[in-house]
Amino acid sequence: MYDLDKIRADFPILSREVNGKPLTYLDNGASAQKPQVVIDAITKVYAEEYSNVHRGLHFLSNLATEKYEAVRGIIARFLNAGDENTIVLNSGTTEGINLVAYGWAMPRFEAGDEIVLSVMEHHANIVPWHFLRERQGVVLKWVDTEADGSLDPQKVIDAIGPKTKLVAVTQCSNVLGTVVDVKAITQGAHSKGVPVLVDGSQGAVHMPVDVQGIGCDFYAITGHKLYGPSGSGAIYIKPERMAEMRPFIGGGDMIKEVSKEAIIYNDPPMKFEAGTPGIVQTIGLGVALEYMMELGMDNIAKHEGGLRDYAMQRLSGLNWINVQGQAPGKAAIFSFTMEGAAHAHDISTILDKKGVAVRAGHHCAGPLMDHLGVSATCRASFGLYNTKEEVDTLVDALELAHELFA
Ligand SMILES: Cc1ncc(COP(=O)(O)O)c(C=O)c1O
Repeated sequence: MYDLDKIRADFPILSREVNGKPLTYLDNGASAQKPQVVIDAITKVYAEEYSNVHRGLHFLSNLATEKYEAVRGIIARFLNAGDENTIVLNSGTTEGINLVAYGWAMPRFEAGDEIVLSVMEHHANIVPWHFLRERQGVVLKWVDTEADGSLDPQKVIDAIGPKTKLVAVTQCSNVLGTVVDVKAITQGAHSKGVPVLVDGSQGAVHMPVDVQGIGCDFYAITGHKLYGPSGSGAIYIKPERMAEMRPFIGGGDMIKEVSKEAIIYNDPPMKFEAGTPGIVQTIGLGVALEYMMELGMDNIAKHEGGLRDYAMQRLSGLNWINVQGQAPGKAAIFSFTMEGAAHAHDISTILDKKGVAVRAGHHCAGPLMDHLGVSATCRASFGLYNTKEEVDTLVDALELAHELFA
């Protein structure tokens, strides 16, 4: 039983007002709110258990290390990774993908080698590959979305040629909500001997993830969208790929020994985790993932599926709203423009006056904006605690904005 009232009570911020109205938080795609268990866990570590990890021999350092390291296992369970040593802890997806770009791709790719990307990637899964284009002459090959915003896995597989070295694709678009069949893409890419990186920043939030079932080589997550602290995250890396990687950031913790002449690296995954990590953030992420798993990822997906259907029905009743992306089975993420030339920023400002938080802009997806022929959209993105009443509040606020701008 998905007890929405109880779940909402777990998130203290949801009971506050904004601009004199109850908060309707529909900016989950950018960052999600935190349940009390996460807030309490963070406070407890700082108040009673804090110390640096790994290097100490004293009680608090051991305690912090134990709690921090336990999160590797929690993430492995959340992603069904099997072995927790496939999990590199980091500050989020951006760092995870840069690790793959610098640590795995840069030393291996040559001029003329190709990376296949979908046109709906987030800049975090574009810019690191542009670095390889600029610096090493690597070629980026783009696969367009269909008219409904879906991505045809076969088109991605067909784009793979003899020079392709990597497919890098999102599991769920942060703009369109499109869910991508990353398993089919991985199977097709692997049959051509090409590894696959999946950006799981949005996917892991909205559906159960099984990285072994998908079979992908890399799967990146970011903690702040998973109801955990910002500055936390991880990337799953298949042992074969991890063995091929060189370290990206150098410093303490990722070494066993350092002398004037040489270094001996720590064993993976710590070889790829330099410096003092986000100790408390990571511990908070572990608590957030336990919270989600307790609710049940299937239950979360079912609840959000109901919100998606209801929001789609209500929004399609507004014939002056143009919803971008209507792929079957999409996540409850709605990007839209409004007829009457109201700019996305103006719409979001009116919504904010009604306590409705949405995001307006390019959503860090420049190539997709070009493909759609828009410079900006408004985006309402739903999370595990949102309600159908909040869909109604959004629609009421949009009607007000339309009256003002039409
Ligand atoms: C699909 C996708 N990929 C990557 C990112 C980047 O995540 P972060 O900024 O936490 O590294 C985001 C964040 O908006 C996203 O939505």
